[in-house]
Amino acid sequence: MDSASVPASQSGDHQSPVAARFDLWAAGYDTSVLQDAFYARLHYHVLHLAARVKPSPHRVLDLGCGTGRLLRAAAARFPHAELLGADISAGMLEQAQARAQAAAPNPLGDRRAGRREVALLQADAAHLPLISAAFDVVTCTAGSHHWPDPRPVLAELRRVTAPEGLLILAHLPGVAAWDHRTGTSCLTVLLGDAGFRITKAALYAECPVMPTTVVLCARPDTPPRRRSGVIRRLRPGDGG
Ligand SMILES: C[S@@+](CC[C@H](N)C(=O)[O-])C[C@H]1O[C@@H](n2cnc3c(N)ncnc32)[C@H](O)[C@@H]1O
Repeated sequence: MDSASVPASQSGDHQSPVAARFDLWAAGYDTSVLQDAFYARLHYHVLHLAARVKPSPHRVLDLGCGTGRLLRAAAARFPHAELLGADISAGMLEQAQARAQAAAPNPLGDRRAGRREVALLQADAAHLPLISAAFDVVTCTAGSHHWPDPRPVLAELRRVTAPEGLLILAHLPGVAAWDHRTGTSCLTVLLGDAGFRITKAALYAECPVMPTTVVLCARPDTPPRRRSGVIRRLRPGDGG
């Protein structure tokens, strides 16, 4: 995945407020008590679900990969997959790169599980510089509530997911301004509108302070259906 292996410090000038915020948090991000109490468990859960549907994926994208923790676990879980992490924050990607280097194969070619190269890309989720239909597994954990508008992101996710590929979104419901529903959250509706087929949506509440909706979707090998609310119904005599 050479075209995607852009060093974080050389790629683009994304200065969104959310990128600036995560750049500030990046150095201390992995020291949070939530890392072991929530994120590590959630990542395990997501990868376990992914492996049940796609036991041996070719390419895995983790969108909003942060410091790359899920990808390092994915390296152990999917030893033959190409792994790519994309994130808007250069600071988070620098942390991911440093941790990946610390776990990199040694000169004797040690390729034990969890010690593989991971490609990292700085990009806004709404504009992914990635080829279409490239990933048979796409994950995104605890990132969607930061998207100002989920629709362009979901369109991009659909574009880069391979036909019959799997998308797993772990979403914190009711946090984003656009997510005015609780429970299953608006995201499930928006995923359907973006052309995904939802196969499972369940509440993951192992960490009670961070209840999370985990949605599994397939990307059908058909064009997205059009939203019924957007299609104008013509009556006889409307004249177009
Ligand atoms: C709460 S952190 C979660 C990190 C990681 N997914 C995890 O589970 O540990 C959210 C991440 O999403 C990234 N992010 C937020 N908005 C984004 C966007 N529009 N495009 C790409 N990444 C984004 C942030 O930079 C941050 O690294």
